[in-house]
Amino acid sequence: MEIKTLINEKDLTSRIQEVAKEIQEDFNGEELVFICILKGAAFFATELAKNVTSSVIMDFMKVSSYSGTESTGKLNFTLDLSQNIENKNVIIVEDIIDTGRTLSYLKEYLKSKKPKALKICTMLDKKERREFKLEPDYTCFDIPDKFVIGYGLDYDEKYRNMPYIGYIEQ
Ligand code: IMP
Ligand code: MG
Repeated sequence: MEIKTLINEKDLTSRIQEVAKEIQEDFNGEELVFICILKGAAFFATELAKNVTSSVIMDFMKVSSYSGTESTGKLNFTLDLSQNIENKNVIIVEDIIDTGRTLSYLKEYLKSKKPKALKICTMLDKKERREFKLEPDYTCFDIPDKFVIGYGLDYDEKYRNMPYIGYIEQ
């Protein structure tokens, strides 16, 4: 088993800085609430927040989705929001979008809390895997359909602390 590099640390962090600036400009320096989806987005959300100079309030959610027999799908919240987001500029910060299931349900749930703005920022997007209609507002990198690890992403809870994005070559 060999780990290959898909996105090196330098390219990754400089792209995160660019996206942070873009978000800051889009909101004219207004206060933002970042909702970091645990555990995968932890590394990305902190790096993104560090590169925004306007006020950023951090919140964390842990969500898992059921599909299986339930055609409607349902979210299981292991950790819910710790504050009221009504009338706030909310950015959902995610590590990777794959089928889009998690975020499409999460977005509906958060919309019902009446934020002023609700945007999605993802570090990685595997567009060709999409099953649910969902378009992120900010994407650092579109990637091919490979199982990736590092910078928060795990394989069996391991590799999250790799400072770059890699994939496993069997
Ligand atoms: P979705 O609901 O199908 O979009 O699933 C997204 C979630 O699946 C992400 O938040 C990750 O936790 C996980 N995931 C999808 N692709 C990968 C990958 O290549 N590596 C690690 N985790 C992944
Ligand atoms: Mg995740």
